[in-house]
Amino acid sequence: MPIETSGIYYRLLTVNDKKDVIESVANHFCMMDPLCISLKFSEKERYEYATYAAMFLADNTSIGAFDGDQLCGVQINCSSHYASVVNVEKYLQSVSPKTKYFIRFDDFLQKVMDKFCGKNYIAGYWVSVDEAYSGRGVAQQLVVRSIKRNTISGQFDSIVGIATAPESKHIAEKYGFNLVHKMKMSDYEDESTGERIFADASIASMHFVFKPLTPKANL
Ligand SMILES: CC(C)(COP(=O)(O)OP(=O)(O)OC[C@H]1O[C@@H](n2cnc3c(N)ncnc32)[C@H](O)[C@@H]1OP(=O)(O)O)[C@@H](O)C(=O)NCCC(=O)NCCS
Repeated sequence: MPIETSGIYYRLLTVNDKKDVIESVANHFCMMDPLCISLKFSEKERYEYATYAAMFLADNTSIGAFDGDQLCGVQINCSSHYASVVNVEKYLQSVSPKTKYFIRFDDFLQKVMDKFCGKNYIAGYWVSVDEAYSGRGVAQQLVVRSIKRNTISGQFDSIVGIATAPESKHIAEKYGFNLVHKMKMSDYEDESTGERIFADASIASMHFVFKPLTPKANL
């Protein structure tokens, strides 16, 4: 059952939400995220990347915020076991070079998380809230609900976030995540071409944040 707060309710996203999620990622996340902006995606590339992001709905761990029927915020999560549900290699073959850059970057992020965050974590990958709803605590509710749900389920040992936006870093600190790794954007080199694709990004660094999850007894 959806839970309602201040007119917004939250529920798990499924593959049936794919179309709405693609629209949201293509027309919001890709237009606002500092790293997407620095890549100067075309419309085609935005939709290619959004289609890739929506593939992670198959992991059944993502959460949406809704105003009535309208999706107004997403947190697309990805577990450390995502490879069993998402075939990145196959999709990579079909997309534009710039989209490939970003998908390879996401793969690199996964490797960093594997190094710092253990073997059984859930990561909040794409978080975005439509501008009309920003500043109303929607992103925080997505994070809080993700922590709560995954604490109760006991399925994962930890929850990981990758903060590029200053708001995300603030939210992570507020809800007890610890910084485990900081990466300078100008240091990142594409593994295939060696290009420093984020050298001109508006953010200097990104922050990997981590929160252990302790399953609660007697719930
Ligand atoms: C980042 C984003 C998800 C935030 O969503 P939101 O629903 O507006 O966020 P919330 O209202 O839940 O919370 C914002 C918090 O950040 C704080 N904040 C706002 N601007 C800030 C800034 N420049 N630096 C630090 N904190 C800031 C707010 O005060 C608020 O915290 P508070 O409640 O403790 O006062 C949204 O702006 C977005 O979709 N951005 C584009 C996509 C993106 O960059 N995603 C993040 C990738 S990591």
